[in-house]
Amino acid sequence: MKILKIHGAEKLEGTIRISGAKNAAVALIPAAILSDDTATICNVPEITDIDALCNILDLLNVKVKRATESIVIDTKGMQNNEISEALAKKLRASYYFMGALLGKYKKAEMYFPGGCSIGSRPIDLHLKGFEALGATVKQEKNKYIVEAKELKGANIYLDIASVGATINIMLAATKAKGKTIIDNAAKEPEIVNVATFLNNMGAKISGAGTSTIKIIGQEHLHSCFHEVIPDRIEAGTYIILGSLLGNPIKIDNIIPEHLDALISKLKEMGSNIEVGQDYVVINSKDDYKPTIINTAVYPGFPTDLQQPFTVLLTQANGQSKVTETIWENRFMHVPYLNNLGADITIKGQTATIRGKTKLKGGEVVATDLRAGAAMVLAALISQETTTITNAEHILRGYEGIVDKLEAVGAKIELIEI
Ligand code: EPU
Repeated sequence: MKILKIHGAEKLEGTIRISGAKNAAVALIPAAILSDDTATICNVPEITDIDALCNILDLLNVKVKRATESIVIDTKGMQNNEISEALAKKLRASYYFMGALLGKYKKAEMYFPGGCSIGSRPIDLHLKGFEALGATVKQEKNKYIVEAKELKGANIYLDIASVGATINIMLAATKAKGKTIIDNAAKEPEIVNVATFLNNMGAKISGAGTSTIKIIGQEHLHSCFHEVIPDRIEAGTYIILGSLLGNPIKIDNIIPEHLDALISKLKEMGSNIEVGQDYVVINSKDDYKPTIINTAVYPGFPTDLQQPFTVLLTQANGQSKVTETIWENRFMHVPYLNNLGADITIKGQTATIRGKTKLKGGEVVATDLRAGAAMVLAALISQETTTITNAEHILRGYEGIVDKLEAVGAKIELIEI
């Protein structure tokens, strides 16, 4: 097990450079198998979710060359081999191999995916989308078998604007015959990044980033070069850190528009934030106003920042409210924040945070990736030492977190037991 030990209450100063977006990279790697040649992707974050996807590529006999933050994927000689249950379960994004393998081979066998336990996380919309394209879906114990004689473009309406379903259907439809329209598609920047990648390989996708995506299927996709967008959630996490402890902190290599919802909430709370073209600079403050947030699909307030943001709300003067509308089980960080001295109650999907409360150190658990990020922020503002167990969850999504935090003055140590 990995443990993070943090000595808190130090002001932090310097620059944190943001890595490539986890939730884009984890879709781009499976998408790369649609090429008949090589795909080069740069700005790939070095996180354990990417290691797991590369292990899946190995199983499929795909040649993978990794260098610092870049990856070359060569599909010549690839085979549609079985992906082991252990690997499929390592992360949520293993399910993108379903859409990609179905597109390429017209057959995909996939065990249920893993990922953070933040809700029931069904994939019915992905499967309905595959069926609309002409595939049959069979479930055998904990495995799906999706197969088609031929994939044919279709009009698909998503009941929920799901990120995963939008990408997975886009992957399969890229190789279907004719035109597919995905309506009520998710609009997250990661979807635009994946569509651009596919287009760079010769796909014909338009409308990504709006709620209607049009795909004209292509028989062959060629080699290409592509860059992963900056991680808006990593950036948001460190912007929140800057709001708590910045003296000041510059968060560099970001696309500020992707963070509009967070930045406008911070401004509403009275934050000292300067927004540049590809960076923000932020100083901490003692007198934040409380606020209300409701998580929502992009461009709304991202659910993935809700847990870290709650830590900031423990330092606002007065009562704040956070309503989680995407995942039914994303308040697991709250009992641990209360153990450290926060005053938060939960009723249904709403947390009420009464601030400002001094946080003291203690022993807490990273129950999932973003809950883990919240624990890191809480530990960094706590008066004493905090140990965070199950830190593996954090390393799944934050590249070089220990080095990045040390470089701005944090006292943090990763221990393996
Ligand atoms: N949903 C269904 N059926 C489906 C698909 C989704 O009911 O077939 C529901 C989900 O249960 C959820 C909602 O729709 O209530 C939204 O789910 P979505 O499919 O959009 O989420 P996802 O693709 O599984 C991605 C990110 C999550 C992020 C969400 C929302 C990846 C690998 N994961 O998940 O990121 O919270 O979009 O923005 O891209 C994280 O990074 O910590 C993380 C959990």
